[in-house]
Amino acid sequence: MDFNLSIEQLEMRNLVRNFAREVIAPRAAEIDETDEFPRDIVRQMGDLGMLGLPIPEQYGGVGADFVAYMMAIEEISYASAALGVILAVHTSVGSFPILYFGTEAQKQRYLPELASGRIIGAFALTEADAGSDAVAIRTRAVRDGDFYILNGSKVFITNGGEAGVYCVFAVTNPGRGARGITTFLVDADTQGFRVGKKEKKMGLHGSATCELHFDDARVPVKNRLGEEGQGFSIAMRLLDGGRVGIAAQGLGIARAALDAAYAYTRQRKQFGQELAQFQGVQFMLADMATKVEAARWLVYHAAQLRQEGADCTREASMAKLFATDTAMQVTTDAVQLFGGYGYIKDYPVERYMRDAKITQIYEGSNQIQRVVIARHLQPNQ
Ligand code: CAA
Repeated sequence: MDFNLSIEQLEMRNLVRNFAREVIAPRAAEIDETDEFPRDIVRQMGDLGMLGLPIPEQYGGVGADFVAYMMAIEEISYASAALGVILAVHTSVGSFPILYFGTEAQKQRYLPELASGRIIGAFALTEADAGSDAVAIRTRAVRDGDFYILNGSKVFITNGGEAGVYCVFAVTNPGRGARGITTFLVDADTQGFRVGKKEKKMGLHGSATCELHFDDARVPVKNRLGEEGQGFSIAMRLLDGGRVGIAAQGLGIARAALDAAYAYTRQRKQFGQELAQFQGVQFMLADMATKVEAARWLVYHAAQLRQEGADCTREASMAKLFATDTAMQVTTDAVQLFGGYGYIKDYPVERYMRDAKITQIYEGSNQIQRVVIARHLQPNQ
């Protein structure tokens, strides 16, 4: 494996890092406090091309590679995990569906809008009774001439209420299981579609998480993505890439917590010396740094495979599992190292810990990642 980053990748990372540190980081605590979707920052990210990084230039994007895009999620998440997931969902499962599976007309219509941030993308698979068991969705789509009529509800939809287009999964052929699911692009102003309750979450404040409702929503046939019955396969293939993005988000959060803990233990003195000089603290910092480094390798390796077009289902799940567990462990240890100061909002580490938790849950819980990894084991790997 060779992770020598190209000049272009490094330049892109520096650009995003500077923006994240100068524009996002100073606002992160306020976004957490108010829980308001940071539309002004999202707009700036759109103006700078960050919402279309891996989208080809012909569709209004920057044309960056997948590794560069993952580094962007990592850098943004270092400053604000909420903006990290807004970017990741908008791109990996909001824009890529159209790039990978859309008709030329769908690409022309949606990608320039998404890449510029004029509209935000979202992904609607999960339902109240279909989370890990995604095949069990019940939202129904019935063909009626040039339209499909959608009925049902979705829950926990990231970018809900903010998105201009939703990539929605619905059953067109009940009884066929995974092969009876179809994907639709649902415009936010579709008749019969409405955004429901906005959730109040433990962390990731500022990122909108909403219910969606479809009451005889009329979606034109031209907004079907792929063929009838291809929906579940489309969802899984998108999540293979999406999970690397969540892994990159976990890596960014973990790095932020490690840096904060390191800086704090270098300046905080007890018993006449810096905390960082106590061996017990050094052991904690060393373990945190080693996990972050291991997570980085898994994330970049999966990203590299994805970029090469190789099958990365197993590696994406490994990266997601390890990097997000690392985020949880490192942020928890960071709070511990800050002591009482770690538990109050004057310092960012309690936010990192609250934000890290969801990364172990969404885009497939880490239990599901283990299921996927185990199913992809082979002899003599
Ligand atoms: N790529 C392509 N096709 C795939 C695939 C993959 N990675 N994984 C499965 N498939 C195909 C299978 O080949 C199979 O196809 P056929 O019917 O043609 O044979 C079909 O999909 C069904 O596969 P399984 O039998 O493996 O299905 P399953 O019911 O056992 O479920 C699962 C598999 C991995 C558990 C899946 O349900 C899953 O990933 N669950 C988690 C759901 C999830 O990740 N939700 C995320 C929501 S989005 C989100 O969280 C965004 C956010 O806000 C941050």
